[in-house]
Amino acid sequence: MDTPPLLVTCGLPYTNGPCHLGHLRTYVPADAFVRYMRRTGEEVVFVCGSDNHGTPIVVSAEQAGVSPRSLSEKYHGHFDTTFKRMDVIFDHFGMTDDPTNHQRTTAIVESLIKEGYVYRQVVHQAYCTKCKRFLPDRYVEGICPHCGTPARGDECDQGCGKHLEPGEIKEPVCKVCGTKAVFRDQEHYFFRLSGFKDFLLPYLDTVKGTTNAKNYAIGWIKEDLHDWCITRTLDWGVKFPGRDDLVVYVWVDAPVGYIAFTEEWAQKTGKDWKRYWCKENRVTHFIGGDIIYHHCIFWPALLKGAGYGMPYSIVASGMLKVDDHKFSKTRGYVVWTNEDYLDRGLPADYLRYYLLSYTSHTKELNFSWKVFGERINNEVVNILGNFVYRTLFFAHKEFGGVPEGEVDPAITAEIEKWQKAVDDFMQEYEFKGAVDAVMSLAAFGNTYMQNNAPWKLVKTDRAAAATVIKNSIQLIKALALLIEPIMPAKSQECWAMLGYADAIASHPISEVTQEIIPIRIPAPKPLFVKMDDQQIAGLDALLQKRVSEANKRMEKTPIVSIEEFQKLEIKTGRVLAAEPVPKSNKLLRLQVDIGSEQRQIVAGMQQFYKPEELVGRDVVVVTNLAPVKIFGVESNGMILAAGDAASLLVPFKPVEPGTKIK
Ligand code: 2FM
Ligand code: ZN
Repeated sequence: MDTPPLLVTCGLPYTNGPCHLGHLRTYVPADAFVRYMRRTGEEVVFVCGSDNHGTPIVVSAEQAGVSPRSLSEKYHGHFDTTFKRMDVIFDHFGMTDDPTNHQRTTAIVESLIKEGYVYRQVVHQAYCTKCKRFLPDRYVEGICPHCGTPARGDECDQGCGKHLEPGEIKEPVCKVCGTKAVFRDQEHYFFRLSGFKDFLLPYLDTVKGTTNAKNYAIGWIKEDLHDWCITRTLDWGVKFPGRDDLVVYVWVDAPVGYIAFTEEWAQKTGKDWKRYWCKENRVTHFIGGDIIYHHCIFWPALLKGAGYGMPYSIVASGMLKVDDHKFSKTRGYVVWTNEDYLDRGLPADYLRYYLLSYTSHTKELNFSWKVFGERINNEVVNILGNFVYRTLFFAHKEFGGVPEGEVDPAITAEIEKWQKAVDDFMQEYEFKGAVDAVMSLAAFGNTYMQNNAPWKLVKTDRAAAATVIKNSIQLIKALALLIEPIMPAKSQECWAMLGYADAIASHPISEVTQEIIPIRIPAPKPLFVKMDDQQIAGLDALLQKRVSEANKRMEKTPIVSIEEFQKLEIKTGRVLAAEPVPKSNKLLRLQVDIGSEQRQIVAGMQQFYKPEELVGRDVVVVTNLAPVKIFGVESNGMILAAGDAASLLVPFKPVEPGTKIK
């Protein structure tokens, strides 16, 4: 049988915020892989799209006061443009809310129902009595039932990382209004994921991709595989067949988007999408390490249940840190692709190089501007750029271009050696290895020039100097071809410097050893520009400023545990006497009965209350604050009041002085 074509996808970005380094950590390697595979002669289709459904988008749209569709269109356009600016070029970039995906999702869910993989069950779902609605996923926050950490409704994002099913979260609170939620019964639909254990284990044994994806997934299946609720009480999404009040869970229609986008692409190009999704395929999913469960367990089971082919390979990237801190938008440890990078005129290729070469694809990438600058200057500029520039400069000056003569077999062998290394690494998704192999060839070129010193040789043996230059230009040609998946724009520039007028991407990698023809070449310009220290310091300062602003924001509203809160003693009290504090026009001195004793409390209420208005009133008092002297008068507690006009908090029903607030 023919080898099926490669279909490469990237995890779909949610349309509720801009593109950042976390996205690029997956998309850039996927793009490099696609470019490389194409240039080895593979037929490759590269599809992606935006993920428009689910509560993150509904919540953000509500906050922004726009419809989820219009928010999605805005960010869809943003991602489409940003990926192109990063030279991440998809054959098709769709939207999960477009009709093709609605239809494909409905068809898949109907197949699952028909095959008996879906059942109905009543769940106790969080419900907000104030907002009068059920609270799916991110509409609710509470405590993780597995590890006790504060969690979102659908995942324990700060603790154990487990996926949470509707109804599982403890102590649910409505995210919109802060009201304590109640549990109410509601009928939902479940996918029999637990029945796929015997299928998934052998499948994961053979699936290609990175070992982190396979190993985590196998571990989770062995630990526990439970059914998934695949409906949500929302208006926004793909309607569950036959139920106008329910939509399918976003994690059903999002991966189905991979198929729908292939269909849309096939429609544009007159191809048959089934060829890519039939039993034997080469679907390769590039994903972030946080969505392994969805892609290695849930998605293959859905496909199997609905009668589609299984993903061939799952490639999961490692974690991203910024300045040694967990990537976090709220804490300021984030690098925005446009605002922080592209809009400042920095080349997409530098960031591509850094992301691909920093570490192995599955390991932790710890971004810092300092290391970024060092890597670019010490490697890209000093090794690769220097070799290209000094060679072409000398070739132009002495020979007017590429000299006549043959390339040494030893040079050809060196190129073949590193080409083979690049190929091995690329096939194994070891992008760092591939970049390092290319840079080793560039380093070889520099040493070769240094050892042979053609600038000296030309004075005594012009023909020998011509051979050195010819060999070096052959190395540059190989480097340009090999570096294209990593730095497409710079490789094109380099290609033009060698006198070629066409697109380097249309040339197969195998041309690395095809002898470069003698041709005139113009005086070269340096291919790469150094990042100057000031520029790097400026970028770093921007990041530090963002972090410190985020810190300040968070300090204003620190999260306190219930234990910390319980350290406060708050009681009701009755005002027995009140009088102005001498020489102050703001303060009142109050005598307050707090049950067990009488307290003197100074309160800033003179402008808002006459003393006699307060006498006999029941108030709320913090009773275990350390005493302080205000205007020379000792104050032993604090009366609680709201807002600038000090509106007193008072008990709703009559209570005795000293009643504890809890
Ligand atoms: O985690 C996320 O950001 C999701 N939007 C990824 C979806 S990938 C897929 F399966 F569609
Ligand atoms: Zn509410």
